[in-house]
Amino acid sequence: MSQGTTFTKYISDCAKSNPEVPASLLISVANACKLIAKQVEQGALAGIIGSAGSGNVQGETQQKLDIISNDILLEACGKDMTLAAMASEEMETIFPANDAGQFLLLFDPLDGSSNIDVNVSIGTIFSILKKQHQGPASEKDFLQSGNAQVAAGYVVYGPQTTLVYTTGQGVQMFTLDHETGEFLLIKENIQISADTKEFAINMSNMRHWDEPVKRYVDECLAGVEGTRQKDFNMRWIASMVADVHRILCRGGVFMYPWDKRDPKKPGKLRLMYEANPMSFLIEQAGGASVNGKERIMSLPSEQLHQRVSVVLGSKNEVDLIQKYHLGK
Ligand code: AHG
Ligand code: MN
Ligand code: MN
Repeated sequence: MSQGTTFTKYISDCAKSNPEVPASLLISVANACKLIAKQVEQGALAGIIGSAGSGNVQGETQQKLDIISNDILLEACGKDMTLAAMASEEMETIFPANDAGQFLLLFDPLDGSSNIDVNVSIGTIFSILKKQHQGPASEKDFLQSGNAQVAAGYVVYGPQTTLVYTTGQGVQMFTLDHETGEFLLIKENIQISADTKEFAINMSNMRHWDEPVKRYVDECLAGVEGTRQKDFNMRWIASMVADVHRILCRGGVFMYPWDKRDPKKPGKLRLMYEANPMSFLIEQAGGASVNGKERIMSLPSEQLHQRVSVVLGSKNEVDLIQKYHLGK
């Protein structure tokens, strides 16, 4: 489709050739994100900067914008008759919408919360599953593997507000046009280069890492004189949405690995709200996504708020890191 096509038209056309596309729900999510973008842009003028003084189910301090974004998504998507229920990083239990709805929506309403107060890119991540039966949805209905996702995406609130999504037919990118209030198509069928010279990891955790991660990063840092025979660059935005967006635009590898600080915790990021949707996008763009040893989208989903270790991005790099984890 041509550049500048609106997201609504793009999705509606896709749904004509593929009735499995959750068109109305995707449009509801996009509309909610436009409202979040408005709040983000206003910042201190709207009184949305700072902590809300509460904690979420994962024991993390909630920012005002975490709660505002969550409420906007609940309100805007709750009206969608195709939606049965929602689950969010910020809510302990699921939120029912319409019992007759056939879809389930999961989201990280505001990703990269530590960036809000300093005016650095943040985002919203979403994942859509199909309810497998008639009638009201329960928490158990959400426990499907990443393979079962019918759509996933994110909106990055950065210098531009950009929506990126997949329904399993490639990855498409749209930027919000403030003149018309529409997301307009900027790139279709995005592909990530298999090789890269750029990695993203929180280096301050280096002393806690496991051996395979240390080995990989050490080899990158050794540069042209080392075994990799090339110089690497490093980026860390502290917002997975912004880091994944960069990788979709110009390649790279992103890691939030398991570390020794809390050995019982499989990782920092959440499988259902962060890792699965991002893995779906990355794989659709020709990249790879693993927890170290295994493909993330094949992992069984046991709990709504389950955590996971994440290595994703350019295929050849992810394959190499996986090889190190498998002891090869
Ligand atoms: P959230 O703001 O939804 O809690 O997610 C933050 C996540 C992720 O977006 C980012 O990559 C990572 O946490 C940042 O972690 P550090 O604070 O260790 O840099
Ligand atoms: Mn997040
Ligand atoms: Mn969040």
